[in-house]
Amino acid sequence: MRLHDDALLKHFSYINGSWHSSNTQLPVTNPASGEVIARVHNADVEQTELAVKSAKAAFADWSKTSANERAALMQKWYALMMQHQDDLAQILTAEQGKPLGEARGEIAYGAAFIQWFAEEAKRVYGDTIPAPSGDKRILVIKQPVGVVAAITPWNFPNAMISRKAAAALAAGCTFVVRPATQTPLSALAMAELAERAGIPAGVFNVVVGDDARGMGKVLTQHPDVAKFTFTGSTQVGRQLISQCAEGIKKVSMELGGNAPFIVFDDADIDAAVQGALDSKYRNAGQTCVCTNRIFVQNKVLEAFTEKFVKAVKALKVGDGMSEGTQIGPMISSQAAEQVQDLVIQSVAQGAKVVAGGTTPQRNFYQPTVLTQVRNDMPIACNEIFGPVSPIIAFENEADVLAMANDTEYGLAAYFYARDIGRIWRVAEGLEFGMVGINEGLISNAAAPFGGVKQSGNGREGSRYGLDDYLEIKYLCLGGINL
Ligand code: SIN
Repeated sequence: MRLHDDALLKHFSYINGSWHSSNTQLPVTNPASGEVIARVHNADVEQTELAVKSAKAAFADWSKTSANERAALMQKWYALMMQHQDDLAQILTAEQGKPLGEARGEIAYGAAFIQWFAEEAKRVYGDTIPAPSGDKRILVIKQPVGVVAAITPWNFPNAMISRKAAAALAAGCTFVVRPATQTPLSALAMAELAERAGIPAGVFNVVVGDDARGMGKVLTQHPDVAKFTFTGSTQVGRQLISQCAEGIKKVSMELGGNAPFIVFDDADIDAAVQGALDSKYRNAGQTCVCTNRIFVQNKVLEAFTEKFVKAVKALKVGDGMSEGTQIGPMISSQAAEQVQDLVIQSVAQGAKVVAGGTTPQRNFYQPTVLTQVRNDMPIACNEIFGPVSPIIAFENEADVLAMANDTEYGLAAYFYARDIGRIWRVAEGLEFGMVGINEGLISNAAAPFGGVKQSGNGREGSRYGLDDYLEIKYLCLGGINL
């Protein structure tokens, strides 16, 4: 990693505007090489409490700043992120593994949330409501919820933080995040840039530590935390929601997915192949919105499969830092082995490997395609979180909708079709929070990201993304006619 600005590489938690050391350190490993690239000081429960208390103290002033003042600071933060896009991307690829081009894309994606919410801060409108009697007036104002605590994942070390933090700061909340211990460097670089942008001490705090249980307890149960937000697995999310229940915290959760990708017989097949590649192999299949099951209508099964398999076989796997790499390593060798297990179990039940499927080489898993898959096989029922595409044939619209919806998850779905009646019917029939229609890449700052069923609640990005960070207050003004 060769940075233009070495000061972006930080090794300490960022609490109340200063960098905090501790007695032990956590190694940060490059998943492509296994090399330790940094050692970050391991924050504990007490430092997490300090971060929450600092955020509480900072809330008093930050919540009283004008939307314009907050927006100006956030715009500076955004500009600094874009100015340092290359360095931030290098740090991200070194700790997470995704190809450098994708990492640059993630920095722009992450920064876009800061820019978007800086603008939205100015549009937190209230309301007036006609009162049932003449001597009263009903007014509605919106106020920041207070201290927001967050736990974020390793698959998007930058954007999953900015998507939450930007909405929180724009609303007037203060923020404490515990990033994944595999990828703390991106979070700490964001803190460095927040400080340079002039975000006041205590408003944005990052605590890096491996005591997941102890720190998680503080972030979900501390009396000073008003709202908790998490991106990660449904299993962990469920546990965290139950911890929040005791203090009746406001929660928003962005959890697992099992995205169907449906190719109807009237689809543009080349566009569908490209869409499937985009939505499946982004970040080596390690996103919650990655295609998990590809359903193809019988009439176009052969044509789609032939083109798709050819394209998958051409994907270049390698170190994310190397020129031309399209698929980087998975986050760990265990992650690659889990994916391989799903493939082996499904093959034992009749699935056929038509691309890849080979034993993982450490963290690297070859992009894989399985055909003759059924919707009840392990590769279709589980969230794969890796570069495997199971192809399932179907006969008609009703059957495919039933199969697509037959999952506890409801995050993203995709389909390719041209018939306008079919497009409406299927878009309305899919039980998912987001639907890509003739489009495989749906994430951006202007759109409401989030799921239904066991994929979570709340929305991130878009104007709806502020709602989770605001309380509605009703003011009843009486005595008008006195
Ligand atoms: C995720 O995998 O959780 C986020 C993916 C995205 O923002 O597109």
